[in-house]
Amino acid sequence: MQTVIIKNLTKKFGSTVAIDNMSLNIEKGKITGLIGADGAGKTTLLRTIIGLLLPNDGEINILGFNPITQKDELNLHIGYMPQKFGLYEDLTVIENLRLYADLKGVAHDFDKMLEFTTLAPFQDRLAGALSGGMKQKLGLACTLLGNPEFLLLDEPSVGVDPISRRDLMKMVREMINPETTVLWSTAYLDEAHSFDTAVVIDKGKVIYEGNPHDLASTPQEFENKVIDLMGGYNKEESLIAKNYDYKAPDVELTVEADNLEKRYGNFYAVKNNTFKIKKGEIFGLLGPNGAGKSTSFKMMCGLARPTSGTARIMGIDIKSQPEKARANLGYMAQKFSLYGSLTVRENLDFFALAYGISLLKKEEKVNEVIEVFGLKEYENSKAEDLPLGLKQRLSMAAALIHNPPVLFLDEPTSGVDVLTRRDFWNHIISLSKKGVTIMVTTHFMDEAEYCDRISLFYHGETIAVGTPTELKQQAGANDMETAFINLIKESER
Ligand SMILES: Nc1ncnc2c1ncn2[C@@H]1O[C@H](COP(=O)(O)OP(=O)(O)OP(=O)(O)O)[C@@H](O)[C@H]1O
Ligand SMILES: [Mg+2]
Repeated sequence: MQTVIIKNLTKKFGSTVAIDNMSLNIEKGKITGLIGADGAGKTTLLRTIIGLLLPNDGEINILGFNPITQKDELNLHIGYMPQKFGLYEDLTVIENLRLYADLKGVAHDFDKMLEFTTLAPFQDRLAGALSGGMKQKLGLACTLLGNPEFLLLDEPSVGVDPISRRDLMKMVREMINPETTVLWSTAYLDEAHSFDTAVVIDKGKVIYEGNPHDLASTPQEFENKVIDLMGGYNKEESLIAKNYDYKAPDVELTVEADNLEKRYGNFYAVKNNTFKIKKGEIFGLLGPNGAGKSTSFKMMCGLARPTSGTARIMGIDIKSQPEKARANLGYMAQKFSLYGSLTVRENLDFFALAYGISLLKKEEKVNEVIEVFGLKEYENSKAEDLPLGLKQRLSMAAALIHNPPVLFLDEPTSGVDVLTRRDFWNHIISLSKKGVTIMVTTHFMDEAEYCDRISLFYHGETIAVGTPTELKQQAGANDMETAFINLIKESER
């Protein structure tokens, strides 16, 4: 039995061919991983399958329905979790669940959902006040309500911490029944490796379809094989680092958090946090969803006022001299925060000028980041229309266009493809070698290995600090993922 039958499907946006004469079947009762480069057509494919987009050509049959003419009937049988799930931000967690259950006309056991998502203690918190990863889990919970026959998940694990990512996987596997079909788009190749089928798409075409174990036996080999299929990654020297136009600072400590604290009512998002980062260090701020990482970033760049304590950037106090301190910073927020209605180039022009790059240099710098971050073919697209991975590239480009001595990167690689992840780290590592200080957070534990030092954060507090090797030793683990899980579990005890 097939849940999806697609024949010669084509979908164009203007002159861009997003899906190119694609044929694809998806078997009922299987979990299929959808993999592809940023902009490869994954989201377009999912949206076309459920009838949100009209194809230009081809045949499409989903659960026996034609999504073009029978969209409403089809919708009763599917659960779709888009990349940016539409939570009601001014309703609480439990109110969101109730509302979605009502909309779908299903009764549900919310306790199980809340337990699975570890959101039970936060059920009365407004969805708008959840951390990025917590929102993602709530979105998935809402999608699973009513046990749909066909689940389409567009990168559900973006921004989800390693422990919760396992929980999400478990949640989907345990909450569905054996006849449920799942189409799961992901940039985590270990995830895709564990599914029944992998579909790799590139430039709107299927370039691999089959059992992931037929391609490789271990998740790591699978990742390498997929990278090869996608054309390999750029191994050249980072042009960003090469042309980075700055003077290495003469202070030894470039970033200091000094008893930083942030309280919302009785709740401590960040509690009494102190750490120091040296010039040229890559400092990883790791921790589960809701640990207080983004809150720390925001306080340290002067966007949120600490309840107490302060931070210094290059010795300049962020509380008393926010503008002067910020001039030394490049900040990439977790949530896309550029101008959606401006084009890629307009955004970059804007940031270049706002950061005081001279008109003479502006053109050169903007062209450089457009080139290096692969934004050329999108330079005239509106930022809000970009696929997630491209939005991340634009945000990264905007954060470092003025070549600051300190970079704050809040989940730069969440939502980017596996090739770009390696590119980003190539820039980060090369910049640190030039003396640029980088504070970064990530939920990819293989990336944590690139950090010089890591602070592991939980419930607003630092629970461990050290080099990756030291943390692994402390946790009695061979890899960072196990170290992360062990250290968190230990601190819970
Ligand atoms: N305005 C607010 N009101 C109440 N609680 C808030 C508010 N803003 C943030 N919080 C809470 O502070 C905690 C820390 O959130 P933060 O965004 O810093 O986490 P994070 O470590 O960045 O998580 P993630 O990995 O999911 O991005 C969370 O429990 C969040 O719900
Ligand atoms: Mg965050």
